[in-house]
Amino acid sequence: GFAGFDDHMSKEIAEQPEVAARTIDALAPGVGDGSLWHGLVLPRFERVAVIGCGTSLNAGRVIASAFERLGGVPSTSFIASEAAETVIEPGTLMIALSQSGETADVLRAVDELDLSRSSLVAITNNEHSTLARRADSVLTCQAGPEIGVAATKTFVAQVVTGVATALSALVATGRMTPGEAARQVDDLKRLPDLLAHAIAVSSEALPPVVDSVLDEPGFLFLGRGSGIVFAAEGALKLKELSYRWAEHYPAGELKHGPLALIQEGTPVVVIDSGERRLESNIAEVEARGGRVIRIGGPGSTVPALGQSLTAPFPGAMDRWGPLESVVPLQMLARELAKALGHDVDKPRNLAKSVTVE
Ligand code: F6R
Repeated sequence: GFAGFDDHMSKEIAEQPEVAARTIDALAPGVGDGSLWHGLVLPRFERVAVIGCGTSLNAGRVIASAFERLGGVPSTSFIASEAAETVIEPGTLMIALSQSGETADVLRAVDELDLSRSSLVAITNNEHSTLARRADSVLTCQAGPEIGVAATKTFVAQVVTGVATALSALVATGRMTPGEAARQVDDLKRLPDLLAHAIAVSSEALPPVVDSVLDEPGFLFLGRGSGIVFAAEGALKLKELSYRWAEHYPAGELKHGPLALIQEGTPVVVIDSGERRLESNIAEVEARGGRVIRIGGPGSTVPALGQSLTAPFPGAMDRWGPLESVVPLQMLARELAKALGHDVDKPRNLAKSVTVE
């Protein structure tokens, strides 16, 4: 084993509370006075664009929504392999995310985009990477080496790094008061406990869930608002590890097509980030015999979100997303894959660093 763990992935999942704590400790001092931002190029910006692939793109989407929801900054995200045609407007803060810093699609996008009137910030787990060398500014994640092919702790490190950068940038450009930023940082400091709680709760709650879906060929993941990107991340992890089909949708889209997929027993994982309209979407699934696996919220299958730890959940994280929801999603994918006899550290057909286009 790996220090008492069955595989690298379970060790890397378990490390997430300490990764979050380390990252917050390293960055927090520079948030409140905007000084984290001072080392970075482009002090003024009108909009934010993020690029990345796979899990790094999902982390980027969370960071984009932090800029948008906390600071009112228009933000977009681009799939790196499709970014070349994109027009980057002057005054754009461009954030490229890559765990390895060597992903060919990201490097090519950085080469081909016209970034002459914008600034490129890299968020990477490898400070010596090609991406780090090409960027105007580099933020290194505090995740430590990640061996499992599926990205887990680096997702958490990327999101925390990006949110801290967003807060610092909002203070430095007068969009947020230092006092409000300090309140947000206090909120972020709860994250290690929320992640640890999510690990404990998920370890208890998931085994019977996994047993009940072993023979299911396909899964749906639903969310609304800030929960959508976590639905995307959950579906990605499930596909890559269990080799089962998984789709994610904004829950409101269900009735516009995907509802036809639901039959007796179809597993539907719902990220309950507190959106009231989710209830009617859940009722639609249940009325067709779908098996709802609810992450967080009232009556949840896996009560792993902050609002069930201390109610009412007071935080800002409910604006840019329940980051701790990624834990039960990672564990669901891993435990299903294990039960099906797959190697969770080395899923078939995949590589840790994708250096071809
Ligand atoms: C999913 C996964 C991949 C990577 C993607 C980008 O678990 O690991 O989707 O996130 O290949 O890799 P990096 O972050 O190295 O650019």
